Amino acid sequence: MLKNKNILLSAVLLPAAMAFAQQNGGMWIPTELNEKEMKDLGMKISAKQIFDPTKPSIKDAVVQFDGGCTAEIISPKGLILTNHHCGYDNIQSHSTVENDLLTNGFWAKNPSEELPNPGVTVDFISDIKEVTAQVLAGTNGLDQKAAQEIINKNIEEVKASLKPESWQRILIKPVYYGNKYYAYIIETYKDIRLVGAPPQSIGKFGSDTDNWVWPRHTGDFSMFRIYADKNNRPAEYSKDNIPYKPKYFLPISIKDKQENDFTFVYGFPGRTTEYLPSIAIEKIMNDTDPARIAVREIALKTLDEKMRTDAETRIKYASKYASVANYWKKWMGEVEGLKKSNALENKRLYEQSLAAKSPELKNSLDELKRLYTEQAPYALNNAYYTELLRNAETLNLANRFLNYSASLEQGKMDDKVLAKFKNELSAFYKDYSGELDAKVTAKLLALYANKVPAQYLPEGFKQNFSDANKNLETIENWSINSIISGRNSLNGATVYTNIDNVFANQNQLVSIIKKDPLISLMASLKEAYLKNADSKYTMLQSQIDAIQKKYMAQLMQADQNRKFFPDANSTMRVTYGKVKGSNPRDGVFYKFQTHLAGVMEKYLPGDYEFDVPKKLIDLYNKKDFGIYKDKTGDVPVAFTATNHTTGGNSGSPALDAYGNLIGLNFDRQWEGTMSDINYDQKYSRNIMVDTKYILFVIDKFADSKWLLNEMKIVK
Ligand code: ARG
Ligand code: GLU
Repeated sequence: MLKNKNILLSAVLLPAAMAFAQQNGGMWIPTELNEKEMKDLGMKISAKQIFDPTKPSIKDAVVQFDGGCTAEIISPKGLILTNHHCGYDNIQSHSTVENDLLTNGFWAKNPSEELPNPGVTVDFISDIKEVTAQVLAGTNGLDQKAAQEIINKNIEEVKASLKPESWQRILIKPVYYGNKYYAYIIETYKDIRLVGAPPQSIGKFGSDTDNWVWPRHTGDFSMFRIYADKNNRPAEYSKDNIPYKPKYFLPISIKDKQENDFTFVYGFPGRTTEYLPSIAIEKIMNDTDPARIAVREIALKTLDEKMRTDAETRIKYASKYASVANYWKKWMGEVEGLKKSNALENKRLYEQSLAAKSPELKNSLDELKRLYTEQAPYALNNAYYTELLRNAETLNLANRFLNYSASLEQGKMDDKVLAKFKNELSAFYKDYSGELDAKVTAKLLALYANKVPAQYLPEGFKQNFSDANKNLETIENWSINSIISGRNSLNGATVYTNIDNVFANQNQLVSIIKKDPLISLMASLKEAYLKNADSKYTMLQSQIDAIQKKYMAQLMQADQNRKFFPDANSTMRVTYGKVKGSNPRDGVFYKFQTHLAGVMEKYLPGDYEFDVPKKLIDLYNKKDFGIYKDKTGDVPVAFTATNHTTGGNSGSPALDAYGNLIGLNFDRQWEGTMSDINYDQKYSRNIMVDTKYILFVIDKFADSKWLLNEMKIVK
């Protein structure tokens, strides 16, 4: 009897325990890993080996790359690997029409050829501490505003009490909407040099057509090196700096992979919202995502026409275009995935079941529903306005000049602030074409006039700007005569030829700016938006935030069986799962792996997305694969797994059961991109470039054996 009961129990419990893995996804704080489950899934190392503040551990090889991506150290000389699309800006900035590193790739032949990238940083996390009790001390019973003041004060005290070294800083961040706080001790290195990058026909193969899509064949990697001062500490760029000596670096495995192998991904995921109420998901799905998609659709189409026919424009806009296109496509996948995974329905049922148990939770949900519904029209306007300002770059410029003239008039413009402004402008103008953007701006103004209700718009705007063709004429006319577009001069100079001359007499400049119709238009759009929409939007948002914090706590209280993880917030996390294919649609099975043969299948000679470099074709035809082929005889290119990743995980190391590097995370598959809101084990897969392909390209394609010699390769 007892025996039978045991069997029955394990039959019930075991699948449940197994199913917990990735059932609801999970991005775990590395000091709070589910070691037992990771081991049950096949992990052969301990949680301590993944994160140990006192001894070298894997975390010492994982860095945040330039604030947005992840990178990992793969040699004792500070060599790091990240995605090609993460290094893209830097590769672009070293490129000209004559020496186009994007097209040709770049491989330093020795350290002296490595290229510095001023401004680029990498962050190490030397420790993580939970500091909730200290941060929230004395806030009980206070209203939101009073509590926040105490929290801010407490945060400063906690920072001081942690006594960072002179080369460290402390960052304290909330999770669970302010129900918990963590402190991060960070060391930032500032001399980061470009070591190698494949041509974009490898590193960005498939470009926007294949972006967010499986099966994938992109060699999305680039290499940099961290430099340090002679004490191995962070230092500004200097030719006297030396390669950083890491506490730990990752061995690289080129063993064959099997479906269901354990794997984990270590990195800096940016932002997820897994605990939104169903009403918020509904608004994202039906209102704000479609609005953002519509704006970008127009901008991208207009840029693309020019970029295809003009090499200079292509280089100038390459990085910006890729980043606008990236989320444009992501949002489309997200909306589809939310529908397909039944996110709304499932969330509603879940909410109902919890509300039945907890009247307080039900109250919060009702409040959230009321607030989100009231906020919806303002949120929609906010989506259109922020996308307009991002994509209509001439308006974006106009806004910067507006802020500048306001600062000047308020006496806030000293030499330092001015120098900073001019630097920002110069960086902006480097990748801007006034003529091309006049078209984008004209078309987006028409969309804005047509989509946004008149009560949120300036007087007469709807009548005057709803016709795109008319706008094209008006805006071109304004742009060609404007100083800010760089198409007109002041004191014999333009912002391109001599920006100092343009700013020589600031009073004169401001009086000209004030008469510029682009600036006046921007001023009126902004005024109408701030007054009619933004004030309501932010007021309601702060009420939503306060209830969401309460709701989060109630949720954790009401659903004790659920294993909660904090939403991504650009801090260090570990996610784990299995190497796995998927069955995204009826009759369709995705294998977990692609090979070089698939690159050749997609090859379109001369195409801007699917061309293949001749040398790679030759290697393929000669089957010159060296030690990088797998048991099929071909080189594996990319693979998928159930790791729960998001933007910011780009470049993150994918590791095997022993902590060896097996791939570089760079994307998710289309059917699962809603995982930022609703991870679904059936559809959600992360996409990684295989270490075999990376090493194959470095070795056979780039002949850069000197780099391989630095690495520790596990065969
Ligand atoms: N979708 C990936 C990520 O979110 C890759 C983006 C870069 N590639 C591109 N074609 N835009 O970053
Ligand atoms: N490509 C993304 C990035 O740049 C990672 C993919 C994702 O969003 O999952 O971080």
